[in-house]
Amino acid sequence: MTKVAPSLLSADFSMLGDEIRKIESAGADWAHLDVMDGRFVPNITIGPPVIESIRKVTKLPFDVHLMIEKPARYVDAFAKSGADMLTVHVEAGGNVKETLKRIRDLGVKPGITLNPGTPVKKLNPFLDMVDLVLVMTVQPGFGGQSFQETGLSKMRYLREYADAHNPRLEISVDGGINRETGKRCADAGATVLAAGSSLFGSKDMKEEISLWKKYGPNAAE
Ligand code: DX5
Ligand code: ZN
Repeated sequence: MTKVAPSLLSADFSMLGDEIRKIESAGADWAHLDVMDGRFVPNITIGPPVIESIRKVTKLPFDVHLMIEKPARYVDAFAKSGADMLTVHVEAGGNVKETLKRIRDLGVKPGITLNPGTPVKKLNPFLDMVDLVLVMTVQPGFGGQSFQETGLSKMRYLREYADAHNPRLEISVDGGINRETGKRCADAGATVLAAGSSLFGSKDMKEEISLWKKYGPNAAE
């Protein structure tokens, strides 16, 4: 079964609690929360106070995608706010190994991610430290962009790595995911599909999510 992580970036922020209940009842596996600082990416979104307040309305695991410079400065605050997974960009600066180690010490699952233009091999030094790798298939910063094909070979590379070294490694993909691109990613080895605009724009989110869950090699399980 492929996991589905709706991105709240496409939600109506005036009723965030209701939107989270909506993704939960539609069968979401995780809630994908996009944190942007206006420096690492040219947009600003939410921080720990918002996560702390929405933590009260759901038991869904919070998959927090940190698009912020030098994320080590904030991992304690995000752990405290209720993140279950904290994913940092390999390009974001600071000491990446120390940051990942700190996340784990805080009792949170560490993840690493990379921009579409960054070669996947840049992740090699960190792969044995993380529970999650997130492949960005758009330039981070905004929802609603088109899927970039170059991510598929990164997913295949990570699938090979995971099969050989860590079969439980979650390989997630984020950016431009819809019915068609989601299927291609699952076939390339992704285990989690993060998506904003296509899920929130779908006629029936529950139907859409149950379709996506059937994608991938373990569909029959
Ligand atoms: C983009 C964010 C994504 C975004 C995806 O920077 O990391 O999670 O919400 O949006 P869609 O699914 O619309 O491409
Ligand atoms: Zn994201």
